[in-house]
Amino acid sequence: MNPEHQPVLLEAVITGLNVTPGQLYLDATVGLGGHTQAILKRGAAVIGLDRDPQTLTRLAEALPDPQLTLIEGNFSQMSDLVRQVTSQPLAGILMDLGVSRYQLAEPSYGLSFQVDAPLDMRLDPHLTVNARDLVNGLSQKELTHLFRLYANEPQAAAMARAIGFKRRFAPIQRTGELAELIASVNPRRGKLHPATKVFQALRLAVNHELDHLTAALPQTVDLLQPHGRLAVISFHEGEDRLVKQFMKHESHFNILTKKPIIPTAAEIAANPPSRSAKLRLVEKL
Ligand SMILES: C[S@@+](CC[C@H](N)C(=O)[O-])C[C@H]1O[C@@H](n2cnc3c(N)ncnc32)[C@H](O)[C@@H]1O
Repeated sequence: MNPEHQPVLLEAVITGLNVTPGQLYLDATVGLGGHTQAILKRGAAVIGLDRDPQTLTRLAEALPDPQLTLIEGNFSQMSDLVRQVTSQPLAGILMDLGVSRYQLAEPSYGLSFQVDAPLDMRLDPHLTVNARDLVNGLSQKELTHLFRLYANEPQAAAMARAIGFKRRFAPIQRTGELAELIASVNPRRGKLHPATKVFQALRLAVNHELDHLTAALPQTVDLLQPHGRLAVISFHEGEDRLVKQFMKHESHFNILTKKPIIPTAAEIAANPPSRSAKLRLVEKL
């Protein structure tokens, strides 16, 4: 197993997708291939999609496999991207949202409050606006709105005020600087670092993650074969709400998980970032 990323809810995903030898699956967030490797091991083929070229380069070196086709691109365009390589209907699609542990730990992404680095957060180097631009460029009102909307943060206004005050003297440049500032406004609640949700909110905004998810979900319908399955793992309330609503209202799908599947205490202990994961599954009629 790759020490840089442990696949979340692995058994539930493999069982839920009903992985069958000889069939073709799309891993729309292939990352370092944790789930994909398990699908390949069961004798199936995988198209692995990711918007992050750095991740794909690492994966191509680590997992050369004739049954794996890698594509760089955004899952918001999954239909066109998949149809460029095959017209075969898919037996299953996996979307494991967010970022990998590798991306969080790698300073060049500037994603984590635990790794001091230039504040960036872009998963896709083609994006022109990074987290530094948002933190230093949005008005206090806009930052408050962002922290409320994406982080559900009760201290949103106080955090935005603290940012507004600090940047009057010099722009906020580093993850460590921002994490410290947020922590000074927001006392630690439980085990979670006080900056966790604000960092997630900024990442969602920089990468337009909810917009891409909204665009991607309807494309899964035509890509899947009858009885093909869609599995989505989300880590954020807003993401999960979108997934749940889509699955509920899409008439071509049968819901397989009335309640989302969540990790066991043992999985959370072994892999703490899995703690907020929710897996939802549907089957195409
Ligand atoms: C949680 S990781 C996936 C980990 C993978 N399932 C594994 O077990 O190794 C999420 C991956 O999705 C990618 N990603 C995020 N948003 C994307 C999007 N809109 N389109 C394509 N890839 C995306 C990220 O770059 C990251 O590599």
